[in-house]
Amino acid sequence: MPLITQAVRGTRDVLPTQTYLYRYLEETALQTARNFGYHELRTPVFEHTELFERGVGDTTDVVQKEMYTFLDKGERSITLRPEGTAGAARACLEHGLLGGALPCKVSYITTCYRYEKPQAGRYREFSQFGVECFGAPTPAADAEMISLVAEYFAAIGLENYRIELNSIGCPDCRKVYLDKLREYFDRHTAELCTTCHDRMAKNPMRILDCKSPVCGEIATQAPATLEHLCDDCDTHFAQVQHLLTSIDTPFTLNSRMVRGLDYYTHTVVEFVSELEGLQSNLVLGGGGRYNGLVELLGGPSMPGCGFALGLERILLHLQAAATPLPGRENCELYIATQGEQAHAAAFNLAAQLRAEGIATQFDIVGRSLKAQMKYADKIDANYTCVLGDSELESGAVRLKNMQTGTQHAFKLTDLPEEFAHFLVQQAHEELTAMYE
Ligand code: HAM
Repeated sequence: MPLITQAVRGTRDVLPTQTYLYRYLEETALQTARNFGYHELRTPVFEHTELFERGVGDTTDVVQKEMYTFLDKGERSITLRPEGTAGAARACLEHGLLGGALPCKVSYITTCYRYEKPQAGRYREFSQFGVECFGAPTPAADAEMISLVAEYFAAIGLENYRIELNSIGCPDCRKVYLDKLREYFDRHTAELCTTCHDRMAKNPMRILDCKSPVCGEIATQAPATLEHLCDDCDTHFAQVQHLLTSIDTPFTLNSRMVRGLDYYTHTVVEFVSELEGLQSNLVLGGGGRYNGLVELLGGPSMPGCGFALGLERILLHLQAAATPLPGRENCELYIATQGEQAHAAAFNLAAQLRAEGIATQFDIVGRSLKAQMKYADKIDANYTCVLGDSELESGAVRLKNMQTGTQHAFKLTDLPEEFAHFLVQQAHEELTAMYE
């Protein structure tokens, strides 16, 4: 297969038959986030490699195996962002947002890049909707961002998912926990994979999310984080749970979920699809608290929490569940023309109609009237009209509703305004009928 006619493995084109669905998911996401006080941040697609090595952690799969890293022409090591949190923290720090009004709440829609084995719902380029909240240490911040996801899912009609919750504690209780983990895994060294041998020394918690089935099996019996929390972490986590319960947001505890990125402390969360027929336990999104990240990047000591959802996975879930999704906006009026004079008039008329906000098309190919009507049918135009010498002479045109076949007469001079008015009236009548 010639390379130039095929997208790179793990990447996908989003065609016009799907892009509007992403727009809908993205706009609803940003709108929901705005209701919680989050405003959109855009950061560069590539950053200095060190940001992710330090931020995400050099014992993670993401950093060790999955980053797209290269030297630029100035011999700097550059990495395509594998996730959004480190870049968001870097940007907020660089532009002094963390020295302003706190909490500082940012949302984002970004593409991310990870060299993973492609499969359904797993790509090498994918998009995330995420939020990050800096400067809020209380359990209410954790619960609020989890409830934001629940609100978003409700807004797009996403059902059949569960919220998995865990706490992985602070650096103090983590020390005790890591010792316990090492003790446990020491007894299984011979069975662990070579990468996990490395993890034993650097960060045994990473063994808990090793993708090797043998390590995974051993991990199921490993000590649980929840049994090793200090009093403060325990109280914090209990309050997060209490707050979620108080707003009727159900969750399940998963004391072995540790998340695949090193910056997390305290609460961690995952949103898991429970839809039958879809890849089992497809993780739609995840997040948690990361109280040490800002300081790790050279900033002040500052708490933070956030999440990111995979938009491709959300669309997969919605489509598999046959959730009603908005339709694509069709061409409202197709003006078929006959004759040179009518064609020139259509050019003008289309401009006036568009100025009224009406999506209008006319022939720019030079087709016969019959072929123009065929095209109008193919693009699913809502209305069509024929403009020829006789219409220009009479100054009137008949618009045909392509679904019902009903015709409506308009004066040419009034068409843009009158048709706009007509459409508003139609929409109003449809709405009234729906509620009767
Ligand atoms: P993450 O769990 O690595 O967390 O990714 C979040 C979500 O992105 C996943 O749950 C999944 O839906 C989607 N995702 C990840 N990898 C792929 C892939 N290869 N193909 C398709 N979708 C994928 C983070 O990225 C953290 N930055 C989240 C966060 C924000 N934590 C705190 N703030």
